[in-house]
Amino acid sequence: MERENFGNRFGVLVAMAGSAVGLGNLWRFPYLVGSYGGAAFIFVYIIFAFILCLPILISEAIVGRRSRSNAYGAFKKLAPGTKWKWLGAVSVFTPIIVVSYYSVIGGWSLEYFFKACTFSFTGGTTQSELGSMFDNFITSVWAPLFGHTLFLLLTGIVIIAGVKSGIEKFGKIMMPLLFVLVIIMAIRSMTLPGATEGLVYLFKPDFSKIDASVCSAALGQAFFSLSLGVGTMLTYGSYIKKSENLAASSTYTAVADFLFAMIASCAIMPAVFAFGLNPQEGPGLVFQTLPFIFSNMTMGGIIAIIFFLALIVAAITSSISLYEVGVAYLVEERKMSRKWSSAVVFVVAWVMGALCSLSFGPLSDVHILGQTIFNFFDKLSANFLMPLGGLLLVLFVGWKMTKADVFDEFTNGGTLSANRRIFNFVWFLIRYVCPIAVLVVFLSAFIF
Ligand code: PFF
Repeated sequence: MERENFGNRFGVLVAMAGSAVGLGNLWRFPYLVGSYGGAAFIFVYIIFAFILCLPILISEAIVGRRSRSNAYGAFKKLAPGTKWKWLGAVSVFTPIIVVSYYSVIGGWSLEYFFKACTFSFTGGTTQSELGSMFDNFITSVWAPLFGHTLFLLLTGIVIIAGVKSGIEKFGKIMMPLLFVLVIIMAIRSMTLPGATEGLVYLFKPDFSKIDASVCSAALGQAFFSLSLGVGTMLTYGSYIKKSENLAASSTYTAVADFLFAMIASCAIMPAVFAFGLNPQEGPGLVFQTLPFIFSNMTMGGIIAIIFFLALIVAAITSSISLYEVGVAYLVEERKMSRKWSSAVVFVVAWVMGALCSLSFGPLSDVHILGQTIFNFFDKLSANFLMPLGGLLLVLFVGWKMTKADVFDEFTNGGTLSANRRIFNFVWFLIRYVCPIAVLVVFLSAFIF
């Protein structure tokens, strides 16, 4: 059977940006900005995202398109008979870990969307009421499991429809919608009385706040947000036609991802400050602090619906990309049908996600290396497997593939003159700067 491709340039962009823009932008980025000192964190983030992570994103796409294979097959094809296939194996398994806990938060978003639709966040609900609403919900057994299941099913439906008529079509409708939704929210938030303080927090850096923990959090977030080191961008890269400009699509993806994170922060932080709330709320920011704001602001009921809808859309386009890695592997390496492959990924992700979900309630006493199951999966992937996967991947491209092959992919056989001009600079980043910097930041997280 012929391999599917994305139809056109816009299709590539919405798929890649759809993977990148997700809970990481709307949920993780704003709370990390809040916890790690506002603009100083953003400053470090920009450097990491564009100087270290963009070349890694391009490298992933190169491996995918060069091999025209899934994450496991790619290394078997480009480096036959070597141990690199183990990187492929990890790249297939890590996204399943990520999708399992990702869909738990996706399920929470669905629940909060239903709550918003029934106007649960209106009429001045107090912070403590919302706090206990959230705690009661996540510590219960059935409701979060239901949300998790529904979210995974929705993802599975798009996957079964295929690369072009599922992933690409869904992205083409949902990504523009997502931008519109978040821009509406940002406008509402920035026009609240007292919102300026939040903007100052986002845009005026205090460089004395930068330390090793800020750097490691920023690097972890840049990896997470650009979906790196887990085989997703590699798999999507394998669906990019030979005629497309792979480096340009990757750059647009990184820009869209960063812009989206900033717009999301502009939708959240000004409102947090306008209501005199604490920006360092952590993971509860989106599910506790924001509903309080919605409950107490004019038009808050509608804005709540818009916000949680945006959260769901963003989360689904990302979880699709995570799901696709396992499905592409099963279809190509195990010769299974797309339907059966989707079913297998569903079952594995469902079981692992159910454990994550229950780790807030009945399984909260179960600890792995001192962490609850959910936190363990989150930290294992974002702080360990993703940077490690990304590091090995750039080493593969910079030191195992030949310069001629990388040049060929980067410039479409020498035909893209702008890419030809910057190739040596990018090659230097891939060979030296990215591996060394990622290694240093990665190790410093263990040392400090
Ligand atoms: N980039 C996604 C986000 O920011 O929410 C999360 C993610 C998707 C991570 C796909 C990794 C991945 F492979």
